[in-house]
Amino acid sequence: MCGYEAPRRIANVSAEAAFAVLKIAKNVERTGKRVIHLEIGEPDFDTPKHIKDAAMEALNKNFTHYTPTLGIPELRKEIAESIKRDYGVEIDWEKNVAVTTGCKQAILASTLAVVDEGEEVIYPNPGYPEYEAAAYFAGGKPVPYRLRLEDGFRMTPEGLAELITAKTKLVVLNSPNNPCGVVMPEEDVKGIVDLAEDHGFYILSDEVYRPILFDGSKHYSPLHAKKNLDKLIIVDGFSKRYAMTGWRLGYALVPEEILPQVFKLLNVMTSCPNSISQYAALAALRGSQEPVMNMVKQYWRRRDVVVEELSKLENIRFVRPKGAFYALVDVSKVLNKLKVNSEEFVKMLIEKYGVAFLHGTALGSYGEGFIRISFATSEENIREGIRILGKAIEELSKS
Ligand SMILES: Cc1ncc(COP(=O)(O)O)c(C=O)c1O
Repeated sequence: MCGYEAPRRIANVSAEAAFAVLKIAKNVERTGKRVIHLEIGEPDFDTPKHIKDAAMEALNKNFTHYTPTLGIPELRKEIAESIKRDYGVEIDWEKNVAVTTGCKQAILASTLAVVDEGEEVIYPNPGYPEYEAAAYFAGGKPVPYRLRLEDGFRMTPEGLAELITAKTKLVVLNSPNNPCGVVMPEEDVKGIVDLAEDHGFYILSDEVYRPILFDGSKHYSPLHAKKNLDKLIIVDGFSKRYAMTGWRLGYALVPEEILPQVFKLLNVMTSCPNSISQYAALAALRGSQEPVMNMVKQYWRRRDVVVEELSKLENIRFVRPKGAFYALVDVSKVLNKLKVNSEEFVKMLIEKYGVAFLHGTALGSYGEGFIRISFATSEENIREGIRILGKAIEELSKS
């Protein structure tokens, strides 16, 4: 024994379990068996050509050096322009915009810049696991808001009010949402903004899936409600919207007083975002948005396939996703019958049936009883994967 004890802030954090599931699936694939991947939360589309061309050009022009820590001014200005276009709100690129290494870094840096030792962070659970991890890193106390299927996985002002204490410092919203596919209605966002004003906490709104909307749903942000960044942080980026996960580029829009702290953190962590990716992102914002609309159309069709196929299965429940590219499926009846938890069930499905989902507990403690389906893959894969799920439920329940 070397006597090593991990510091509490790190020991409490678990790495994103989606990557662990992927590893199990890859191990099975190595034996020559096919696995249908419905666990991965990343677009299967290629990055649009004009974005790749801009990156090549940047490379050929030798834009291969460090950039300013908060990103190249052209990109920060373009982000501010896009906010004016999309939200009708004027922000100051020099005072409010930080370009980051993916949305992940934007979440971490802005949480660290706001939350002090012992302060509370309320976040959706099941939800994207980074919010809880960031709260731990900050030495804060993570306070999960339980999203319930019975409530359509909504985070409501009334539900939130029950969790607010004098120590509440930050409330995280995510709409459209991973993993439930919920889009927050305007009334809920407005109600939560009112609570923030009454109690003085910050809101971090993760809007990385904002254009991916179905059935005419509208994205309503706290920025629409407030029209300014007073105690408001918006996290967004290029990974999902432009199919650019590997480019690692995101941004945070933060209140003026926070930016110097975010600057320090980003400088210490990475010095600056990737130079080539920034020129690619510039082309993404300046260029045609048609590729984005085409991808959204395909996600919509795939969502319809998910709903059609899931509706045929017995002993499961789900809420029709209105945005993002996930459906969260309640399989608790099946798990109870089989006497396994969601993680064991997912492993069984990969190893015995060749289909991979994400277990709900990868998305927080309240995810037990659920599995997440990602529909960022072909309609054929989705159809086949869900049919295999049905077959597995039937066979396993009998045995
Ligand atoms: C809700 C949410 N926010 C942020 C991210 C991370 O985005 P990025 O790849 O830009 O770091 C993800 C990735 O799955 C996500 O689902």
